[in-house]
Amino acid sequence: MLYSEKVLDHFSNPRNVGEIEDADGVGEIGNAKCGDIMKMYLKIDDDGIITDAKFKTFGCGAAVATSSMATELIKGKSIDDALKLTNKAVVEALDGLPAVKIHCSVLAEQAVRCALSDYYTRKGIDPLPIVGEIHEPEE
Ligand code: FES
Repeated sequence: MLYSEKVLDHFSNPRNVGEIEDADGVGEIGNAKCGDIMKMYLKIDDDGIITDAKFKTFGCGAAVATSSMATELIKGKSIDDALKLTNKAVVEALDGLPAVKIHCSVLAEQAVRCALSDYYTRKGIDPLPIVGEIHEPEE
């Protein structure tokens, strides 16, 4: 089987699909090569805890599964923890992805960072030293 049970589950029943209207941070990232786009919405409280996360992904099944898993992994966590979320952690939580689909998990990692970047920008804080550069997955 090419895809793990968990990937199939998160693809068929993605968690946290949708938008947060009064989000505190919104990030959108695309991959020019495959044309997939991911949009991430975060609700963050005054203590810097991510109380809600939702996503909309126009993309492949692995992109849907990785965004679903990424939202699950950061919900209830601090911004610091979310910044530590790597695409590798998302892939591990999904019990692996085929090599050609690793870039989809990078999209999820970057979508989270992009939304956090927006969160800081809205607060008048330069996100670059905290979040770093947002980059499109290369492949
Ligand atoms: Fe592009 Fe999956 S093929 S994100």
